[in-house]
Amino acid sequence: MRLALYPGSFDPPTNGHLSIIQRGLRLFEGLVVAVLENPAKDALFTVEERMRLLREAVDDPRVEVEAFSGLLVHYAQHKGVRTVLRGLRAVSDFEYEFQMANMNRKLDREIETIFMMTGEDYFYISSRFVRDVARLGGDITGLVPANVATALRARFGGK
Ligand code: PNS
Repeated sequence: MRLALYPGSFDPPTNGHLSIIQRGLRLFEGLVVAVLENPAKDALFTVEERMRLLREAVDDPRVEVEAFSGLLVHYAQHKGVRTVLRGLRAVSDFEYEFQMANMNRKLDREIETIFMMTGEDYFYISSRFVRDVARLGGDITGLVPANVATALRARFGGK
Protein backbone atom coordinates (compact mmCIF):
# COMPACT_ATOMS: atom_id res chain seq x y z
CA MET A 1 0.00 0.00 0.00
CA ARG A 2 1.36 3.39 -0.99
CA LEU A 3 1.52 5.46 2.19
CA ALA A 4 2.83 8.88 3.09
CA LEU A 5 3.63 10.45 6.40
CA TYR A 6 2.14 13.88 6.98
CA PRO A 7 3.93 15.29 10.02
CA GLY A 8 3.35 18.53 11.85
CA SER A 9 2.56 20.29 15.08
CA PHE A 10 -1.15 20.72 14.23
CA ASP A 11 -1.63 23.13 17.14
CA PRO A 12 -4.41 23.45 16.13
CA PRO A 13 -5.29 21.63 12.90
CA THR A 14 -6.48 24.13 10.27
CA ASN A 15 -8.45 23.97 7.05
CA GLY A 16 -5.10 24.24 5.28
CA HIS A 17 -4.00 20.97 6.89
CA LEU A 18 -7.31 19.32 5.99
CA SER A 19 -6.95 20.42 2.39
CA ILE A 20 -3.48 18.85 2.19
CA ILE A 21 -4.85 15.63 3.74
CA GLN A 22 -7.74 15.47 1.27
CA ARG A 23 -5.53 16.22 -1.72
CA GLY A 24 -2.83 13.89 -0.42
CA LEU A 25 -5.37 11.07 -0.52
CA ARG A 26 -5.57 11.51 -4.28
CA LEU A 27 -1.89 10.67 -4.54
CA PHE A 28 -1.53 8.10 -1.77
CA GLU A 29 -3.67 5.18 -0.70
CA GLY A 30 -3.27 6.14 2.93
CA LEU A 31 -1.75 8.80 5.14
CA VAL A 32 -0.21 8.62 8.56
CA VAL A 33 -0.79 12.02 10.14
CA ALA A 34 1.99 12.33 12.70
CA VAL A 35 1.56 14.87 15.48
CA LEU A 36 4.81 16.08 17.01
CA GLU A 37 5.07 15.59 20.73
CA ASN A 38 7.47 18.32 21.71
CA PRO A 39 7.75 18.99 25.44
CA ALA A 40 9.93 22.06 24.82
CA LYS A 41 7.27 23.80 22.75
CA ASP A 42 4.57 25.79 24.48
CA ALA A 43 1.53 24.15 22.96
CA LEU A 44 -2.04 25.38 23.14
CA PHE A 45 -3.53 21.88 22.87
CA THR A 46 -2.05 18.68 24.25
CA VAL A 47 -0.97 16.02 21.77
CA GLU A 48 -4.01 13.94 22.75
CA GLU A 49 -6.33 16.90 22.10
CA ARG A 50 -4.69 17.57 18.74
CA MET A 51 -5.02 13.92 17.74
CA ARG A 52 -8.66 13.89 18.75
CA LEU A 53 -9.37 17.11 16.83
CA LEU A 54 -7.68 15.66 13.73
CA ARG A 55 -9.50 12.34 13.97
CA GLU A 56 -12.88 14.05 14.37
CA ALA A 57 -12.21 16.46 11.50
CA VAL A 58 -10.88 13.85 9.07
CA ASP A 59 -12.79 10.67 9.95
CA ASP A 60 -11.51 8.61 7.01
CA PRO A 61 -10.36 4.98 7.28
CA ARG A 62 -7.41 5.77 5.00
CA VAL A 63 -6.05 8.23 7.53
CA GLU A 64 -4.29 7.17 10.70
CA VAL A 65 -3.47 9.81 13.31
CA GLU A 66 -0.57 9.14 15.65
CA ALA A 67 1.85 11.00 17.89
CA PHE A 68 5.60 10.92 17.44
CA SER A 69 8.60 12.27 19.28
CA GLY A 70 12.26 12.37 18.39
CA LEU A 71 13.48 12.41 14.81
CA LEU A 72 10.96 12.22 12.01
CA VAL A 73 13.19 9.86 10.03
CA HIS A 74 13.27 7.41 12.94
CA TYR A 75 9.50 7.49 13.14
CA ALA A 76 9.24 7.00 9.35
CA GLN A 77 11.59 4.00 9.60
CA HIS A 78 9.53 2.61 12.47
CA LYS A 79 6.35 2.94 10.37
CA GLY A 80 8.02 1.63 7.23
CA VAL A 81 6.98 4.76 5.30
CA ARG A 82 9.45 6.45 2.98
CA THR A 83 7.49 9.43 1.74
CA VAL A 84 6.95 12.57 3.76
CA LEU A 85 4.19 14.92 2.65
CA ARG A 86 4.33 18.64 3.46
CA GLY A 87 2.25 21.61 2.40
CA LEU A 88 4.05 24.64 1.00
CA ARG A 89 2.33 27.98 1.36
CA ALA A 90 4.64 30.74 0.30
CA VAL A 91 8.21 31.66 -0.45
CA SER A 92 8.66 32.23 3.28
CA ASP A 93 8.01 28.52 3.93
CA PHE A 94 10.46 27.45 1.30
CA GLU A 95 13.79 27.88 3.08
CA TYR A 96 12.73 26.03 6.22
CA GLU A 97 11.09 23.25 4.24
CA PHE A 98 14.05 22.96 1.90
CA GLN A 99 16.43 22.64 4.84
CA MET A 100 14.21 20.15 6.61
CA ALA A 101 13.75 17.98 3.51
CA ASN A 102 17.50 17.95 2.89
CA MET A 103 18.35 17.24 6.52
CA ASN A 104 15.90 14.34 6.52
CA ARG A 105 17.38 13.01 3.30
CA LYS A 106 20.88 13.35 4.76
CA LEU A 107 19.72 11.34 7.78
CA ASP A 108 18.08 8.70 5.61
CA ARG A 109 18.73 8.51 1.86
CA GLU A 110 15.57 6.48 1.32
CA ILE A 111 13.23 9.19 2.55
CA GLU A 112 11.71 11.56 0.01
CA THR A 113 9.71 14.67 0.82
CA ILE A 114 6.83 15.58 -1.47
CA PHE A 115 5.39 19.09 -1.37
CA MET A 116 1.87 20.11 -2.24
CA MET A 117 1.20 23.77 -2.87
CA THR A 118 -1.46 25.01 -0.48
CA GLY A 119 -4.69 25.99 -2.22
CA GLU A 120 -5.35 29.70 -2.80
CA ASP A 121 -8.02 29.72 -0.10
CA TYR A 122 -5.59 28.59 2.56
CA PHE A 123 -2.17 30.07 1.81
CA TYR A 124 -2.50 32.73 4.54
CA ILE A 125 -3.66 30.32 7.25
CA SER A 126 -1.19 29.11 9.85
CA SER A 127 -1.76 27.50 13.23
CA ARG A 128 0.10 30.38 14.86
CA PHE A 129 -2.15 33.04 13.30
CA VAL A 130 -5.23 31.00 14.12
CA ARG A 131 -4.14 30.84 17.77
CA ASP A 132 -3.56 34.60 17.80
CA VAL A 133 -6.87 35.45 16.13
CA ALA A 134 -8.77 33.14 18.50
CA ARG A 135 -6.95 34.45 21.56
CA LEU A 136 -7.63 38.07 20.58
CA GLY A 137 -11.32 37.48 19.92
CA GLY A 138 -11.30 37.49 16.09
CA ASP A 139 -13.58 35.41 13.90
CA ILE A 140 -12.01 32.06 13.04
CA THR A 141 -14.87 30.82 10.88
CA GLY A 142 -13.53 29.31 7.68
CA LEU A 143 -9.99 29.02 9.02
CA VAL A 144 -10.42 25.79 10.95
CA PRO A 145 -12.84 22.85 10.94
CA ALA A 146 -15.99 23.28 13.06
CA ASN A 147 -14.78 21.04 15.90
CA VAL A 148 -11.51 23.00 16.17
CA ALA A 149 -13.44 26.29 16.19
CA THR A 150 -15.54 24.93 19.05
CA ALA A 151 -12.42 23.89 20.96
CA LEU A 152 -10.82 27.30 20.41
CA ARG A 153 -13.96 29.12 21.53
CA ALA A 154 -14.11 26.91 24.62
CA ARG A 155 -10.52 27.86 25.35
CA PHE A 156 -10.71 31.58 24.63
CA GLY A 157 -14.37 32.48 24.26
CA GLY A 158 -15.17 34.84 21.38
CA LYS A 159 -16.70 34.45 17.93
O1 PNS B 1 3.87 21.92 11.66
P1 PNS B 1 5.33 22.15 11.83
O2 PNS B 1 5.61 22.70 13.22
O3 PNS B 1 5.91 23.00 10.75
O4 PNS B 1 6.03 20.69 11.73
C1 PNS B 1 7.41 20.55 11.90
C2 PNS B 1 7.82 19.07 12.05
C3 PNS B 1 7.03 18.40 13.14
C4 PNS B 1 7.57 18.35 10.74
C5 PNS B 1 9.34 19.05 12.35
O5 PNS B 1 9.60 19.94 13.41
C6 PNS B 1 9.89 17.69 12.71
O6 PNS B 1 9.90 16.79 11.91
N1 PNS B 1 10.33 17.55 13.97
C7 PNS B 1 10.90 16.31 14.46
C8 PNS B 1 12.38 16.47 14.76
C9 PNS B 1 13.23 16.21 13.54
O7 PNS B 1 13.14 15.20 12.88
N2 PNS B 1 14.14 17.18 13.22
C10 PNS B 1 15.10 17.02 12.15
C11 PNS B 1 14.59 17.47 10.82
S1 PNS B 1 14.92 19.16 10.59
